[in-house]
Amino acid sequence: VDNTTQGIYQLYTAAQRLYQHILLNTTSGEQALSYLHDTRQLDDEIIKKFGIGFVPEDNALLGYAKDQNLAHELMHASELFITNDQGEMRDRFAGRIVWPIKSDRGQVVGFSGRALDNNNKIKYMNSPESPFFTKSKLLYNFDLAKNVIRQTNTVMIFEGFMDVISASMAAEDNAVATMGTALTNEHVQHLVRIANRVLLVYDGDEAGQRAAQRSITLIQENTKDIEIGVVHLPDKLDPDEVRLQQGLSTLKQALHQNIQTPVEFLISVSRVGKNLSNQAQYLAFLQEVMQLLKQATPVEQDIQLTRIANEFGTAKSALQAQLEQTNKS
Ligand code: UTP
Ligand code: MN
Ligand code: MN
Ligand code: MN
Ligand code: MN
Repeated sequence: VDNTTQGIYQLYTAAQRLYQHILLNTTSGEQALSYLHDTRQLDDEIIKKFGIGFVPEDNALLGYAKDQNLAHELMHASELFITNDQGEMRDRFAGRIVWPIKSDRGQVVGFSGRALDNNNKIKYMNSPESPFFTKSKLLYNFDLAKNVIRQTNTVMIFEGFMDVISASMAAEDNAVATMGTALTNEHVQHLVRIANRVLLVYDGDEAGQRAAQRSITLIQENTKDIEIGVVHLPDKLDPDEVRLQQGLSTLKQALHQNIQTPVEFLISVSRVGKNLSNQAQYLAFLQEVMQLLKQATPVEQDIQLTRIANEFGTAKSALQAQLEQTNKS
């Protein structure tokens, strides 16, 4: 590691400490702290555990960097500042609550910032891609989670850091998140070395369902050595919303009990938007089901066909016959 790299790592660490200090101990952090306490129901202990901070509008980090006589090059490469048309530098994350993103070893390598008010700013902004911050490789919270992932042989994958933090509050510490990006081959290769079970805990909305579908495909293309479960969350909520609206114990319960197999999940997705009392749509649904069941084990085929037979009053023997036809075609 050369001097510039070391200097940048030191700056990230200093920035994280400064931002947290501002959040917890100064008047410019008061509004953000109230938001985290009251609206997001986070206490100071959890704020400290995850290193959360606040970046005020007064260029506090820029001031620090000048005090330290940091080289312009280094400041530029850190991506913690933006330069305006007049060539003046400003703190990139000004006005945002920030979550430090750490490497596998726990070194801060970037931040993700959330606007305090949703009105005039884009809600989330990450550090830009750089040699230090590569979203396709990084998993939020991996540094804290890796030991528990090994112990439990299971990793829970979430969409966002607030979801990971909610899981941690429910004493589920094998939680990581991709950061506004899709799961990648690199993520999967990394995880398969220390776990043989993945739980996908995506938002209950449509975007979350689509993301889960993509992740299932990606994982299955990558490896046969991972068992996949898909956690179904109530009422189209995300995990953090489940905690806030229905309580930690409901979240914890869902993480352990509302687990679908990939086939079960994909069949439920295939139902969405179809009127299954309409014969043509029911038959189209069945064709999709049979395609999904081709790869399933005989037992899972039997379970799913029994369910459909019972729900729709179709003879199970007819469903089995159609599956056999599909297998041949
Ligand atoms: P969501 O869009 O589901 O966030 O993005 P949210 O749950 O509504 O956010 P809150 O609860 O109001 O704070 C899921 C996650 O994707 C990441 C964030 O971690 C976010 O929590 N994300 C999203 C980014 O990192 N960058 C983006 O531009 C967007
Ligand atoms: Mn408060
Ligand atoms: Mn979402
Ligand atoms: Mn969400
Ligand atoms: Mn949320």
